[in-house]
Amino acid sequence: MKFDARSFVVFSISAVMFLGLTSADKPCAARAIKGRSPVCVCNDTYCDEIIREKPVSGSYVAYTSSEGGLRFHKRTAKLEEILSNGCCHTNFVVDPDTKYQTIEGFGGAVTDAAGINWKNLSTTLQDYLINSYYGDTGIQYNMLRTPIGGCDFSTHAYAYNELPENDTKLANFSLAPEDFDYKIPMIKKIMATSSTPVEIVATTWSPPKWMKTNNAWIGFSSLKTEYYQTYADYHMKFLQEYEAQGVKVWAITTTNEPINGVVPLARFNSLGWSPNHMGDWISNNLGPTIRNSTFKNVKILGLDDQRYTIPIWFDVMVNRHPKALEYLDGVAVHYYGDIITPPWLLSQIPEKYPGKFVLASEACEGSYPWDTEKVALGLWNRANNYISDIITDLNYDVVGWLDWNLCLDKRGGPNWASNFVDSPIIVFPENREFIKQPMFYALGHFSKFVPRGSVRIKVTENKPILRHTIENVAFVTPDDTYVVILHNSRSKIRHVAVRVGKEQANLDLPARSITTIEFPKY
Ligand SMILES: *[C@@H]1O[C@H](CO)[C@@H](O)[C@H](O)[C@H]1NC(C)=O
Ligand SMILES: *[C@@H]1O[C@H](CO)[C@@H](O)[C@H](O)[C@H]1NC(C)=O
Ligand SMILES: *[C@@H]1O[C@H](CO)[C@@H](O)[C@H](O)[C@H]1NC(C)=O
Ligand SMILES: *[C@@H]1O[C@H](CO)[C@@H](O)[C@H](O)[C@H]1NC(C)=O
Ligand SMILES: *[C@@H]1O[C@H](CO)[C@@H](O)[C@H](O)[C@H]1NC(C)=O
Repeated sequence: MKFDARSFVVFSISAVMFLGLTSADKPCAARAIKGRSPVCVCNDTYCDEIIREKPVSGSYVAYTSSEGGLRFHKRTAKLEEILSNGCCHTNFVVDPDTKYQTIEGFGGAVTDAAGINWKNLSTTLQDYLINSYYGDTGIQYNMLRTPIGGCDFSTHAYAYNELPENDTKLANFSLAPEDFDYKIPMIKKIMATSSTPVEIVATTWSPPKWMKTNNAWIGFSSLKTEYYQTYADYHMKFLQEYEAQGVKVWAITTTNEPINGVVPLARFNSLGWSPNHMGDWISNNLGPTIRNSTFKNVKILGLDDQRYTIPIWFDVMVNRHPKALEYLDGVAVHYYGDIITPPWLLSQIPEKYPGKFVLASEACEGSYPWDTEKVALGLWNRANNYISDIITDLNYDVVGWLDWNLCLDKRGGPNWASNFVDSPIIVFPENREFIKQPMFYALGHFSKFVPRGSVRIKVTENKPILRHTIENVAFVTPDDTYVVILHNSRSKIRHVAVRVGKEQANLDLPARSITTIEFPKY
C-alpha cells in the first residue's frame, strides 16, 4: 500500500479517538489519609488531569469532588422532561435572564515561598505543578497575586532600595535576588502555560524601613509624610522593572492589610494607614502618579484587607477623600474573619460606588492561632470552608477569588515570621512528589468552569422549609453554556433536580461534596 498522508492522518485521528486519548482524564492518584479525605499524589511520571467537556444539546456534564474521595468525577447524562410533581426534595431553577456581575478570574499567589518550593522540585514536577493550576488540563487559573518586595512568606524581610536611607529619588532601586531566582521565573512559566492572559495583581507589604515612622518591618507604623511621593514612585519603579522583565502587571493594591500597622498583632511586614492618610496618599500621590504615566491603565485596588474593614478603611476614606475614589477601580478583600462579617458589605461596594468592583485577593486555611495543625493533609473541612466562602463571595458580587501561596512545604512555609499556613499544594521534594489537597479541587470546581467573561445569573433553590440549604451559584459562560455549582455540606446524600429551560438534570449529590454541572445554552 502506498503511503497516503491524508488517510494516515484520518486513521491516526480515529485511532486516537477510538482509544479515547483526545479527552482522557487522568484520575487522582489517591493516597489515603487516616480518618480524612485522600490527597492526590503527583510524581515524576504521573499527575492527574481533568478535561472540561462541552455538553452537547440535550445533555449535561457533571463533575463531583467529595470528602469520600471523588475528585472531578465526571459523568454525562441526558436532560429529562420536567415532571409536574418533581422528582426531588430540592430543585433549583436557573434564570439566565437575570444577570449580575461579570467574572474576572481565579488564581493564587507567587510568593518567594511558593517559588522556593517550586524550584526545589524536578523540572517534570515543576511543569506538572504549573499545569495543574494554569494548564488546559489543570484547573485553568487565569490570575495571580505577587508581593512587591518581601512579605512573611520568604526567608527574610526585605524591600527595594533599602540603601541608601532617605533616598527620595529611589536612585538605587533594583529588583531583589528573589525576583530573579523565584518569582519572575515562576510567573513566566505560568504566563507560558495559561491559554488565556494571566492578570497579575501586585502588592506592597512594607516599604523600606526608612520610609516608616517606626523604622522597622513590623509593629505600629505609618508612612512618613515626607515620603508620600516616594512611596508612589516606588510602585511606579516596580511596574517599570517588571515590565522590563516581560511581566505586565494588571493591578496594584494600595498596601497589604494596613490594619496590621494600626493594630499590630501580626508579626510580619506591614505598613499602617489611617483611612484619612490613605485617602490623602491615593488622591495626591499614588493616583496622579500612576494615571499620568505609561501605566495609566493599571488598575488600582483599595483596601486589600479583611471584609470587616470596609466600613472604616474604605467608606470613611472615600467620604473624606472623594478624589481617591476617582483613582480606584475597585476594592480588594481578604478572607480572614469572613465568618464574623456580613457578606452584604461586599455588594454595597458596587451599589454605593457604581463601576467599582470587588476582588477577593487573599485566602488561606490554617492561619488562626487555634489551627494547631498548620498543614492538615486531606482535611475536607478546609475545602468546605473555601467552597462556602467562594459561593458566598460570588453571590455578593465579587468578580474573582485569589488564593494565597500556590504551594508550601510540609511545615506550611518557608515563612521568616513563623506564620505557617496550609496550601492547596504541598511539596515533598525529598520524596520527589507533591500532593494536591482537597482545597485544590474545591477551587478547581470554580476556576475551571467559570472562565473570564462569565456572567453570574440567578438560580433559585426550592426546598422543604426545614431542609438545610444546598449552597449554590450559577453562571452563563462565554462558551455558550450554563454552569451551576452546588455544595452539599451535610453528611447525607441529596437527590436534586436542576431546571434549565424546559428540561432538568436529576442527580445525586454525595455527602460532603461539591458538584459543577454544565448545560448547553438554550
Ligand atoms: C508515580 O505515581 C504513579 C501513579 O500513582 C505510580 O504508578 C508510580 O509507581 C509512581 N512512581 C514512583 C517513582 O513512585
Ligand atoms: C544599593 O543597593 C544595594 C543592594 O541592592 C546595596 O548593596 C548598595 O550598597 C546600595 N548602594 C548604595 C549607594 O547605598
Ligand atoms: C535618615 O533620616 C532620619 C530621620 O531624619 C535620620 O535619623 C537618619 O540619620 C537619616 N539617615 C541617613 C543615612 O542620612
Ligand atoms: C499629570 O501631571 C501634570 C503635571 O504635573 C498635572 O498637572 C496633572 O494634573 C496630572 N494629571 C493627573 C491625571 O493627575
Ligand atoms: C529542598 O528539598 C530538600 C529535600 O529534598 C530539603 O532538605 C531542603 O531544605 C529544600 N530546600 C528548600 C530551600 O526548601
